[in-house]
Formats: sequence, C-alpha cells, structure tokens
Amino acid sequence: MVKYSTVKKRLKIEVERTTANGLAHLTHYFQNHVNGVSQHYIKPATEYLSQLSDELQLVEEPQMQQLLPMKFDVPFPPPTEYDFTFLDLFAGIGGFRIPLQELKGKCVFTSEFNYQAQRTYEHNFGEVPFGDITKLDLNIVPKHDILTAGFPCQPFSISGKMKGFEDTRGTLIYNVFQIIEKRQPKVVFLENVKHLIHHDKGNTLKTIVKDLEALDYKVSWKLLNASDFGVPQNRERVIIIGHKDIKFDFTKLKTKPKTNLKRILDKDVKFEYLDEPYTILDDYRIQESGLIFIGHRNKSIRIAGVRPGTEHLSRVHKQPNRIYSSEGLHPALPSQESSGRFWIYDEGKVRKLTINECYKIMGFPEKFIKNSSLSDSYRQIGNSVCVPMIKEIATQIKAQLL
Ligand SMILES: C[S@@+](CC[C@H](N)C(=O)[O-])C[C@H]1O[C@@H](n2cnc3c(N)ncnc32)[C@H](O)[C@@H]1O
Repeated sequence: MVKYSTVKKRLKIEVERTTANGLAHLTHYFQNHVNGVSQHYIKPATEYLSQLSDELQLVEEPQMQQLLPMKFDVPFPPPTEYDFTFLDLFAGIGGFRIPLQELKGKCVFTSEFNYQAQRTYEHNFGEVPFGDITKLDLNIVPKHDILTAGFPCQPFSISGKMKGFEDTRGTLIYNVFQIIEKRQPKVVFLENVKHLIHHDKGNTLKTIVKDLEALDYKVSWKLLNASDFGVPQNRERVIIIGHKDIKFDFTKLKTKPKTNLKRILDKDVKFEYLDEPYTILDDYRIQESGLIFIGHRNKSIRIAGVRPGTEHLSRVHKQPNRIYSSEGLHPALPSQESSGRFWIYDEGKVRKLTINECYKIMGFPEKFIKNSSLSDSYRQIGNSVCVPMIKEIATQIKAQLL
C-alpha cells in the first residue's frame, strides 16, 4: 500500500513542474464529477493518476481532495447549483470566470498555455487550465452554453477563395471556430483590443463576423469602454457576441457614470515616488475620455514617430512619459510593467500605482490571489479583462440569449 505522504510528495513535484495536461484532466474531473461532464476527463485523469502511483484510483471527491497537495479552499469555487455552463478560453487569470460564476455559470473547460497564468488560475479556481489550444483533442471539450474567449489578435489576411472559417487557418481564432463548429454553443462571447476594428483596414473583424455567420450565428459587436461600467480606467475593448437565433442588443447594457481614480486608491501603504525630474503643467483639463493629462517625466520625452512594436497601441500608450491626475481616469493598463505607464499625480506628488490598485481598476475582487511574482502580476492584470464590464455583458447575455 502506497502511503498518502509518498503520493502527496510525488503529486507536489508534479504540480510544480508540469506543463502537461495531466493535472488539467484531474482537476477538471474533480470539478465536474457530479454533472456528467467528468466523462470527458475520467480516462486521462485515471491514466495520469496511475502514472503517479500503481495503487491510486479515482475515488469520490472528498477523499481525493485530501490526497492532493492543491488548494481546494479557493476564493472562487464553482457554484454548487448553476443555470448555465461555459468555456473559458485564453483564460489568463480568469477575468471572465469570476463574473460568469457570480451569475451562476459553471465553467466546464478552460485553456491557457502560460505556466504562471495557469498557477494563478489554479490558486483562485482550484482548476488547472489545459495548455496550448492548437494542440487540443477537441473530443475532450464538453458541450456548453456560452463560449468565452479573449483571444490574442493575430494578423491574417483573407484569401477570399476559401469558404467558412478556413480563411483564418493558422490563427488562434481558427481554433476557437473549430470548437464552435463541433460543440455548437448557444452563445459565443469574444473580446479583443480596440485595434481589431482597424486591423488590416477592418478586414480582420469583418472576417470574424462573416465566419461566425457561416457557422449559423447572428452576430453583433460593439466597442465598449470599461469606464462606463464603474471602474476608473479608460480601457476600450471590442466585444463580439453571436447567438443561434437572436442578435444581442448592446443598447440594453446598463452603464454607470464615470468615476475617478482617487476613489479606489490605497491608503496607508508605502508608495514608490518618482525620484527623477518631472513637469507638472499649470494649465490642464479633463479630456473627453475622462483622463486628466497633468504633466510628464522630463527624461527622454518621446518625439515624433512610433516606437517599433507599438504601432497597434493607443495614442496614450505611445506616450509613456505622461502623468495623469488621480482626479480623472487612468489610461488602459498595459501588460508590461516596464512600459513607463502607471505614474499618477496624487496629493501633490507623483507616484507609481500599486499592484493592488491595478487589480482594483480592473474590478477584481479583493480576495483574488495574485501571482507571487510582481512582474507576472503586472503582466497578468494588464492582459486581463475588466470584470464589472464582463459581468454587465454576461448579465444581458443571460437575460436576452439563454
Ligand atoms: C489577452 S489574454 C486573455 C486574458 C484573459 N481574458 C484574462 O481574463 O486574464 C490572452 C491569453 O491567451 C493565452 N494564449 C495565447 N496563445 C495561446 C494558446 N495557443 N493556447 C492557450 N492559451 C494561449 C496567453 O497566454 C494569454 O494569457
């Protein structure tokens, strides 16, 4: 008989080093063992366990949980009763999953290939995402009601010769289309950066819409700003929604008045103040967006031209030396801490936004467990979605489309 302590040790090693899908199968099995979805995961989960120990078998959840050196008392456990199921693709750290679970959604499959993002996800949801979506066996993806994906925007040009979603072959949205074709979710909920609208003179967005229509979805899309959903951040994102019979009506979304950064700032913590020369302008004003450009760092102010690799970013991102006032909004958080953004003018001083404040201006709940590496935490929140905006859209999806 293998001792539990031996098995725990082996499993711990595996948790720490694996990038394979064994733990994804196992944790997906655990979170779905009462709803029939576990049949998708049971075989590989069993095989994975038998690799770790000859004498281990899948047993019901309570015993198994004691066996695993994983956190199951997570801040965001799946709802015990649920109204709909969903997929969390390109899951990052679960910016879709938090609000959809709050609306009584049950995640039945998740994919994310970045190791550090997988760890953050596991600590918060008790589930390890499957890895590279391009290498997935589609048979393990269960049927579901809503497919969510904040997919990376990749260039593709349209040959115009092929039919359906073949036009996007070789890109990540193609892999999403394959899942949609196979599992026919009721609703497709996609998110992307604003630049998608202009990418390849609008052809990229047009192709995505056309391909979803070819898969029999009625599609609508809109550019939305997180600042209209109660968070002090000017973050514009394209939202694309498809449904088998009904066009999603964006006009029903409930927006909120713009708020300011000051409202959410940390108190009584040690701030990092800017210790290099900067200029605060005498004459400043609130921009239409709600940003208050109040000054700039004096060092290496960018002159004309676009820095390589930033062509697709908004104007604000290309001006990393700008300082914005806490009386207004913050510009969209970037995914690079080194981008030079994050400096705010508050209480007569210039200081860096804390990592905690970054998670607050994306609307993440306080109980969210951040990655232990600060640079990974900055990257992960900059890549994520604004939770209250996703929640309002999902609320309307539930009301209009399910
Ligand atoms: C824009 S982020 C989405 C973040 C997510 N919506 C969230 O709330 O955190 C895109 C994510 O896709 C992941 N990704 C990129 N290529 C992938 C692939 N081939 N398979 C799985 N995940 C991938 C990246 O690691 C990144 O975390």
